[in-house]
Amino acid sequence: MLAIQSHWAAVIAAWALALSPAWVASAADATTTKQPVVVDGTSFTLNGDGVSYRFHVDNTTGDLIADHFGAPIDGDGDDDAIEAEVGPIQGWVDLIGRVRRELPDLGRGDFRTPAIQIRQSAGYTVSDFRYKSYDIVNGKPPLKGLPATFGADHDVSTLVVHLYDNYSSVAADLSYSIFPKYDAIVRSVNVTNMGNGNITIQKLASLSVDLPYGDYDMLELKGDWAREGRRVRRSVGFGTQGFGSSTGYSSHLHNPFLSLITPSATESHGEAWGFSLVYTGSFAVEVEKGSQGLTRAMIGLNPAQLAWPLGPGESFQSPEAVAVFSNMGVGGMSRKLHSLYRKHLMKSKFATRTRPVLLNSWEGLGFKYNASTIYKLAQQSASLGAKLFVLDDGWFGVKHPRINDHAGLGDWEVNPERFPDGLTPLVDNITALAVNGSSGNDSSKLEFGLWFEPEMVNPNSTLYEEHPDWALHAGSYPRSETRNQLVLNVALPEVQQFIIDAVSNILNSSRISYVKWDNNRGIHETPSPNTDHEYMLGVYHVFDTLTKRFPDVLWEGCASGGGRFDPGILQYFPQVWTSDDTDAMERVYIQFGTSLAYPPSAMGAHVSIVPNGQTGRQTPIEFRAHVAMMGGSFGLELNPEDLEDEDKAKVPGLIALAEKVNPIVVQGDMWRLQLPEESNWPAALFVSPDGKQAALFYFQLRANINNAWPPVRLQGLDPKAKYKVDGNQTISGATLMNKGISYRFEGGDFGSKVVLLERQ
Ligand SMILES: *[C@@H]1O[C@H](CO)[C@@H](O)[C@H](O)[C@H]1NC(C)=O
Ligand SMILES: *[C@@H]1O[C@H](CO)[C@@H](O)[C@H](O)[C@H]1NC(C)=O
Ligand SMILES: *[C@@H]1O[C@H](CO)[C@@H](O)[C@H](O)[C@H]1NC(C)=O
Ligand SMILES: *[C@@H]1O[C@H](CO)[C@@H](O)[C@H](O)[C@H]1NC(C)=O
Ligand SMILES: *[C@@H]1O[C@H](CO)[C@@H](O)[C@H](O)[C@H]1NC(C)=O
Ligand SMILES: *[C@@H]1O[C@H](CO)[C@@H](O)[C@H](O)[C@H]1NC(C)=O
Ligand SMILES: *[C@@H]1O[C@H](CO)[C@@H](O)[C@H](O)[C@H]1NC(C)=O
Ligand SMILES: *[C@@H]1O[C@H](CO)[C@@H](O)[C@H](O)[C@H]1NC(C)=O
Ligand SMILES: *[C@@H]1O[C@H](CO)[C@@H](O)[C@H](O)[C@H]1NC(C)=O
Ligand SMILES: *[C@@H]1O[C@H](CO)[C@@H](O)[C@H](O)[C@H]1NC(C)=O
Ligand SMILES: *[C@@H]1O[C@H](CO)[C@@H](O)[C@H](O)[C@H]1NC(C)=O
Repeated sequence: MLAIQSHWAAVIAAWALALSPAWVASAADATTTKQPVVVDGTSFTLNGDGVSYRFHVDNTTGDLIADHFGAPIDGDGDDDAIEAEVGPIQGWVDLIGRVRRELPDLGRGDFRTPAIQIRQSAGYTVSDFRYKSYDIVNGKPPLKGLPATFGADHDVSTLVVHLYDNYSSVAADLSYSIFPKYDAIVRSVNVTNMGNGNITIQKLASLSVDLPYGDYDMLELKGDWAREGRRVRRSVGFGTQGFGSSTGYSSHLHNPFLSLITPSATESHGEAWGFSLVYTGSFAVEVEKGSQGLTRAMIGLNPAQLAWPLGPGESFQSPEAVAVFSNMGVGGMSRKLHSLYRKHLMKSKFATRTRPVLLNSWEGLGFKYNASTIYKLAQQSASLGAKLFVLDDGWFGVKHPRINDHAGLGDWEVNPERFPDGLTPLVDNITALAVNGSSGNDSSKLEFGLWFEPEMVNPNSTLYEEHPDWALHAGSYPRSETRNQLVLNVALPEVQQFIIDAVSNILNSSRISYVKWDNNRGIHETPSPNTDHEYMLGVYHVFDTLTKRFPDVLWEGCASGGGRFDPGILQYFPQVWTSDDTDAMERVYIQFGTSLAYPPSAMGAHVSIVPNGQTGRQTPIEFRAHVAMMGGSFGLELNPEDLEDEDKAKVPGLIALAEKVNPIVVQGDMWRLQLPEESNWPAALFVSPDGKQAALFYFQLRANINNAWPPVRLQGLDPKAKYKVDGNQTISGATLMNKGISYRFEGGDFGSKVVLLERQ
């Protein structure tokens, strides 16, 4: 099957230009495998296993007209269908304002929100992009300087459609890649100035989709610091609605993800479209239900932070956006994104590997430590069975020691007062500690990880004294501080090099196998509206260089928790600290919400002490640990000395359970069975890729008084197979899915169960 696809891709690539008029790819084996890209004259179809994405060229306007994005369709000309969709042309709205367009531009009679707006050299913002030609490319070419999905020729095929505005001499290349196995279409736009004057790109959405007449709901993730990933569902109304980030980063406030669903769609039924921007900077999502009842959705760079000048011959490449379709509800959409991101977005070798259980020093010691207390904490980590010890903030700064958050950021040299012998001998000692419970070989020694926040600087630092111009600022406007710090202008090549060298130096000096890369404020003043995007290109250069130079390091992203949990980051860092809120009750909402777009494998989740530092809430250690086990990177964030003896005694067992379920959580499919927003008993089932193992996470948020115990019905199992449940009872998949199983929760609030299933 794969061989046929790649053969055809090669034939297409070689002959695409030669055979310009009508032809339809028809493999000998067409009944079993549809060609991923089919071109018939000027009609284009992208075929996935469960999706068709179709558009054609309008031969009078040269505009690209969308025909279908949904469950697979075959054959049939499109023109009649188009005629049927458009009503009589009366009033102000011309034909172009009534059709579904692939690249809505401005000034041709489409009064809906445009996806592209260019200020021409003569000053106007009118454009007229018309179809010129197309190319089909094997596989998927990388996007220079930007994170992007990738795959071999048999995983993905790419169609590039060339549009041209004859009046302004501006070219726009729309790139569509189809990953058939994931029903995912990835689109980006490349604009080139072919004229003699300077133009300015004022707006460029990566993806714009027009859905047919109908009602839709939109699903999104909103929040704030320590309250990320809250799922919001609302109906799309007439006019524009949307959200975005202007923080310079993807942010906790809104996530660069949008789902449109039919109003009757649920977790497991109905049509769901997911749109996700592979980008870590400011973004905008706009949804508009127009006067004619069609719904337009777009996602891309935030136009408020973009005025990109393009001189003659220059190009601007947008970030890419991923669009997936599922007719198995919101859950189906999420699982497609999860698998695509694990296999075709994350570049780290750890993406599908089991992660070491870690203990992070932050909540246990904060800024108050020295070499001997750190060593002691590492000893306790190893004794409990953690495999990785992470030293968080506070280890650096010579002239301006980082002993609180007022000083030291930017001075990436070990604090000689805290570590008189330097970091290396301490790390040698820590990595010589044997992990309790492991067999006596090298991999059973404790590993060491370190915290950095390299994009930032305290004014109270040697770096700032030497390079005040390296901090982002706008002329003589005040440089506003947040958490006593400023943002470095990572758009500057000298700043990029400084960060690369500073981090490399430390990583070369000691046996460091994990890095937590933090980023604790948003961007305020910038010298120009382009700075945000230039900054992001600089950050990507830094991430790319360091992750390629240190491929054996496990990199974890963090930005005051989930301030940068986005597909762009995942290209380089296979895991992200999901939230600074470690309250397990809050985490149920945050982690279920985040899983709407992101694989659980990418979530860092830790057990901390109670009462919780953010909420003051008291929860049992089992509940805290069971919630954290739903994240790919399970850890402890506490000083074991602060645990009650009874709880401490439970930790090794909980670590053992976390290690048992981790491969299923990291590699498996997640089925959200019951949502915390809708049920007192949120539940999720993870099923291993071979279907042989599954792990059920089942919670009771509030005590159940004088009610029956509700059954939880599983999903994603083989109805005909038998499953051994928790090592004793054997139950059929059909019974588990159609009848369900019941559990009693003893005790009051915050009950939890982790149940392992083995297919017999
Ligand atoms: C444009 O398309 C219509 C509908 O398919 C067709 O009838 C017409 O002949 C085409 N015109 C040209 C100039 O190709
Ligand atoms: C653009 O202009 C060239 C000549 O200037 C002409 O040959 C071509 O047909 C025009 N293309 C469109 C799409 O108008
Ligand atoms: C964008 O298009 C221009 C002109 O075709 C080309 O030179 C450039 O390489 C393209 N950029 C990318 C990133 O594909
Ligand atoms: C285009 O911009 C460049 C750089 O700002 C400038 O040197 C050049 O004169 C401009 N060209 C025109 C035609 O305005
Ligand atoms: C390290 O800190 C501990 C606890 O505050 C203290 O008892 C100890 O003396 C310190 N050690 C050194 C070498 O400063
Ligand atoms: C190893 O863990 C067990 C409990 O699982 C504990 O009883 C024992 O003291 C630990 N050993 C060391 C050396 O920490
Ligand atoms: C600079 O850092 C030092 C050492 O932590 C501290 O005493 C001082 O108050 C800081 N100054 C400012 C302006 O934050
Ligand atoms: C490392 O361990 C050795 C041997 O126990 C000890 O002498 C040394 O002080 C330790 N160094 C650090 C930095 O902990
Ligand atoms: C070391 O132990 C790990 C598990 O603790 C095991 O997977 C690995 O095969 C062992 N390696 C050797 C060389 O014994
Ligand atoms: C650190 O080591 C890597 C190779 O492991 C090397 O490429 C790099 O130049 C070194 N960097 C510094 C600053 O020593
Ligand atoms: C099933 O096995 C689990 C764990 O192995 C145990 O806790 C439970 O009591 C057993 N249930 C029955 C009914 O034997």
